[in-house]
Amino acid sequence: MAHLISPSVLSCDFANIQRDVEMINNSQADWFHVDVMDGVFVPNISFGFPIIEAIKKHATKPLDVHLMIQNPDQYIGEFKKAGADILTVHYESCIHLHRTIQLIKEAGMKAGVALNPHTSVSLLEDVIEDLDLVLIMSVNPGYGGQKFIQNANFKVSQVKEMILRKGSNALIEVDGGVNGETALTLLEAGADVLVAGSYVFNSSNPTQTISDLKAL
Ligand code: DX5
Ligand code: ZN
Repeated sequence: MAHLISPSVLSCDFANIQRDVEMINNSQADWFHVDVMDGVFVPNISFGFPIIEAIKKHATKPLDVHLMIQNPDQYIGEFKKAGADILTVHYESCIHLHRTIQLIKEAGMKAGVALNPHTSVSLLEDVIEDLDLVLIMSVNPGYGGQKFIQNANFKVSQVKEMILRKGSNALIEVDGGVNGETALTLLEAGADVLVAGSYVFNSSNPTQTISDLKAL
């Protein structure tokens, strides 16, 4: 399977959200990466349901929603209503992770689990077969534009090995500090989906940057 590109709208121009959503629609991107931060799980607040609904109104590709929030269970139905197609929760914020994954699927979405840089891949052994997506964080979550943590390459290869061994269908997504250089080693290690925020939106031609990432 050719790898997928999920541009992070966290780095878009929110005063021109329709324009930036249409840029992604008309590009070679596959998904929209939508980062929700609550100021508790991570030291930053991004946006909530009205912005997700606004993106959904114009988007012609799936919304890949990354929740960096405490207690995600209580909002699963609302994220579905707002337009999420894939819903990813953090391992570190879910006490009853197995239940959370089932709730996401019962709500009609694909289920993902994200791991912070310090969280061992081995902790997914008992849920990997239930997952549609594993999100390896290659920065500490909270902000765009941070430096890539090299150990993410090793974690991607570890998840890849686990997926093959367990016969899981989960895709491996990587988020944080992805650019034309870091993407190469991630793809070699087995990444299926690349998230890119600042690298796309700070470039002089975001559409071309997305094409370049897709062509790697
Ligand atoms: C960080 C977010 C990322 C962020 C990535 O907490 O989860 O999705 O937008 O931004 P870049 O690609 O600039 O590192
Ligand atoms: Zn993200």
